[in-house]
Amino acid sequence: MKNITISTSSALKSIPRELINAVEEEVQRGYFTLINGTGLGNDFLGWMRLPMSFTNEQLSVIMNDAARIKRISDVVVVIGIGGSYLGTRAVIEAVSADKRFSKKPTILYAGHNLNPVYLNNLIAQLDKVDYSIVVISKSGTTTEPAIAFRILREHLQNKYGKTEAANRIIAITDAKRGTLRKLSIDNGYTTYSIPDDVGGRFSVLSPVGLVPLAIAGIDIQSLLKGAASMAEICLDKESFFNSSAYNYVLTRNVLYAAGYDIELMVNYLDHLNYLSEWWKQLYGESEGKDGKGIFPASVSFTTDLHSLGQFIQGGTKKLFETVIQVQTTRKDVIIPKLDDDVDNLNYIAGKSVNSVNKIAQKATTMAHVSGKVPNISIKVPQITEESIGQLIYLFEFACGVSGYTINVNPFDQPDVEAYKKNMFKLLGKE
Ligand code: PA5
Repeated sequence: MKNITISTSSALKSIPRELINAVEEEVQRGYFTLINGTGLGNDFLGWMRLPMSFTNEQLSVIMNDAARIKRISDVVVVIGIGGSYLGTRAVIEAVSADKRFSKKPTILYAGHNLNPVYLNNLIAQLDKVDYSIVVISKSGTTTEPAIAFRILREHLQNKYGKTEAANRIIAITDAKRGTLRKLSIDNGYTTYSIPDDVGGRFSVLSPVGLVPLAIAGIDIQSLLKGAASMAEICLDKESFFNSSAYNYVLTRNVLYAAGYDIELMVNYLDHLNYLSEWWKQLYGESEGKDGKGIFPASVSFTTDLHSLGQFIQGGTKKLFETVIQVQTTRKDVIIPKLDDDVDNLNYIAGKSVNSVNKIAQKATTMAHVSGKVPNISIKVPQITEESIGQLIYLFEFACGVSGYTINVNPFDQPDVEAYKKNMFKLLGKE
């Protein structure tokens, strides 16, 4: 498969050479801090070797469990939030939209919100189908998934009885600690452990992602293969400093040093929206601390050109764009030629929608660059398990290096606790 490539040529055009040199030094320091494991949070570096860490036996266990759940389920509800949910949804939406999949089982989600309307509708749907649950929580105590699991566990038990309900639940959690581990032991659920040294937002290539993805029909071996090919580049210092990953880290950090502190992840295929959601959590929780960090935001073009395009082109000059450019899609639609041509579109009749989309990309990049919005382009030959695996590892690795480059601990999230403390107090938790 062809590799992902990154072009950053226009992004640094107006930046002084001294600034680029200074940031280069910091990125190099950040890289060695990460690969030598000498930085803050170095007990959370297990994700770096995840793509290479699964034996064939371990993958067979996952695939056998997935096959069993698929056989008995029209729907599988994946319960989780943040790092225990976003990576799975990102891969499923990206890959399955671009490929033909059997629709069974349909993957639905719960525990990622506190929306009573959503939960009501979900329960109404589950009344009518055969379903199973994959519940994911590293701590085993996060409020949103815990509430959803309590509600759906009761529903499942009422529908199938306690024994069959237990047969339809897979729990993915800490090896020893937490309520979910206790529930799993007490009820005999099939369980998978999340490695101690892998934090939530870096966990998609662990059982957190692999188990629900296998159930959804994703080729997890190819996903891991793609990630491993990127890991090989990133973990080797000779190849890293000539790689797309380095180019990405360096460019975004130079832009940050030059005053651009908002990074817009841009796609032109809205089935990549959850990849952006996953990326936002990864960078937001990893870099946004100690009063520092690039704010990660996202848009989907051309849809958002009709809402945020004006601001991007003409508003405050704080933004730079990282554009995912997918070269080919598996499916396309040809614009028909019509005799009456009332809509005056015959000039593009015979062209495919994707070719028009690509022209829109070119035109937008030209406009934004001339509007002084620096542009990083990530070229992805096609959306497949392998290319998504490469992208996931590239972004994770670049995130670790970036965090150390700006001297924060990329692997903690101390400030997420603030709202939880208030909420528990207001709810009267002991
Ligand atoms: O990255 C993180 O650590 C968080 O986003 C967690 O993944 C999220 O809060 C869910 O936590 P848990 O898996 O413990 O339920």
